[in-house]
Amino acid sequence: MPKPIRKAVFPVAGLGTRFLPATKAMPKEMLTVVDRPLIQVVVDEAREAGIEHFIFVTGRNKAVIEDHFDKQYELESTLRKRGKSAELDLLELDLPGAGETSFTRQQEPLGLGHAVWCARQLVGNEPFAVVLPDMVMKASPGCLAQMVQVYETRNGGNIIAVEETRWEHVHRYGVVGAKDWQDNHFTINQMVEKPKREDAPSNLIISGRYILQPEIFEILDRKEAGAGGEIQITDAMKRLMDVQPFHGLKYEGTTYDCGDKVGFLAANVAHALEREDIAPAFRDELDKILQAHGGKISWT
Ligand code: UTP
Repeated sequence: MPKPIRKAVFPVAGLGTRFLPATKAMPKEMLTVVDRPLIQVVVDEAREAGIEHFIFVTGRNKAVIEDHFDKQYELESTLRKRGKSAELDLLELDLPGAGETSFTRQQEPLGLGHAVWCARQLVGNEPFAVVLPDMVMKASPGCLAQMVQVYETRNGGNIIAVEETRWEHVHRYGVVGAKDWQDNHFTINQMVEKPKREDAPSNLIISGRYILQPEIFEILDRKEAGAGGEIQITDAMKRLMDVQPFHGLKYEGTTYDCGDKVGFLAANVAHALEREDIAPAFRDELDKILQAHGGKISWT
């Protein structure tokens, strides 16, 4: 049996410039999918996958994330006095246990690879997951749980969740080459950051969930800047691929890129339509909006 995946790193130190002004004083990761902050959605996914220790790499203006994962005595006592037991239960359920969270700082947003490197002392010498909170994966079982299963089937190594994108969009993403497919997982034999369509080994893109071996930290230690002058996790993974196996999982589910306005709005619609408490009323509202746009929302 490979070493279990007990820890997950959540990089939340980015500037969220695509969501300004919303993210001027508030972290992007506290934007909500219906009524759940993005960071809560991904912590839930990690818990479902068996993660026991949640490591947040935060930056300026991110203290509210730490508060979110703490008890709020005043609020709880008010809810108790008002007999709001459903709300109280919900808050209790969402909270990781005492001692299960750690927070560290990335003092400057030098890139995702650098943010992961900032967690090295907290992770130590064991395999771990990296979960990007702005990539919301709607899946059952959750994407990370599916990855842990592949990690066990493939007897360890590094695992990356991938999904298909349209060929004309491959230049926007990290793309992997695939061989030796077994069901929906495969060996990764290439990794290319933002390739031209004609150079892309496939249309399978890296989509925001990783299981990595701790040797990645030795490579990130070199602090080599890549695309955009940032320290990129993909560059470090490419180097690690020379000495360790990497597997891809084409996971079952749908990804919403909530770092992007359209993806964020789509995630909200998709989740709202599946919420028993609001779906009927929300469908009516959507119908009205569609009718106001001539039955079809289209700008042509
Ligand atoms: P993004 O590039 O999507 O986030 O990084 P960003 O930089 O905050 O957003 P934009 O592009 O300016 O709108 C993906 C994840 O990695 C974290 C971000 O917080 C986000 O959750 N990240 C990124 C860091 O923690 N540190 C970094 O230096 C860069």
